[in-house]
Amino acid sequence: MLNVKNLSVMVGKKKIIKNFSYNFAKGKIYVIMGPNGSGKSSFANAIMGHPSYTLSPQSRIALGKERIDKLQPEKRSEKGIFLSFQSPLSLAGVSVRELLYLALTKKKEPLAVRQEITQYAKELHISEELLGRSLNEGASGGEKKKLETLQAAVLDKKVMIFDEIDTGVDVDALRAIATFLKKRKKDKTFILITHYNRVLRYLMPDKVLILMEGVLKKVGDKKLAKKIEKEGYEKAVN
Ligand SMILES: Nc1ncnc2c1ncn2[C@@H]1O[C@H](COP(=O)(O)OP(=O)(O)O)[C@@H](O)[C@H]1O
Ligand SMILES: [Mg+2]
Repeated sequence: MLNVKNLSVMVGKKKIIKNFSYNFAKGKIYVIMGPNGSGKSSFANAIMGHPSYTLSPQSRIALGKERIDKLQPEKRSEKGIFLSFQSPLSLAGVSVRELLYLALTKKKEPLAVRQEITQYAKELHISEELLGRSLNEGASGGEKKKLETLQAAVLDKKVMIFDEIDTGVDVDALRAIATFLKKRKKDKTFILITHYNRVLRYLMPDKVLILMEGVLKKVGDKKLAKKIEKEGYEKAVN
């Protein structure tokens, strides 16, 4: 599904991601872990096409067979990539409901959008009040991440990347998000970025990828994440 090959990313003259190659398949949940500053957010931003991150000429990012690494972020989103930021932005005067209606004009029936929002909000324990409030205004960490999850689902993207999925999110919100994602895993690719392994209590990833100093150091399963918790990154990957 998301095929990343020889991805090297620079910010200014600084090389942040170094020759990252991995194929993220459909129907699987991936967790990318790594210490602070290892390049996790930069990886996500580069996949999305953030203009501050420059790719080396050898870098390739493809969705299925189609290369997307030259496309603008909006186009990548249209092709099916969703990124939930580490710190979701607030939007004054526009609610999540309105935002989704707007985004899906001419793409989905308004009634269908309405029903989906109601259904997903119920599963994620998002209140009516929060749905109608200006996006993320005064929302807690958990509420913001739940709203991001709802948007990703209604927009029905193929590849969903959640940066710092469990930062500032309480246990109940994390459980609701994990349960929600698990149920929809079949034809999606989820990439969850985190620096702890709290999320692994609620959701079994198919693969755990360890990113250190911009290098994909090791790929394993849940056991690898456990090992890291016990021994720390340095010892666990060597
Ligand atoms: N826009 C940017 N400008 C300058 N340096 C950046 C920028 N984005 C990331 N970096 C640097 O790249 C490294 C990796 O950062 P980041 O991707 O945020 O790591 P992580 O998400 O794993 O904590 C850090 O040293 C950070 O300071
Ligand atoms: Mg980060």
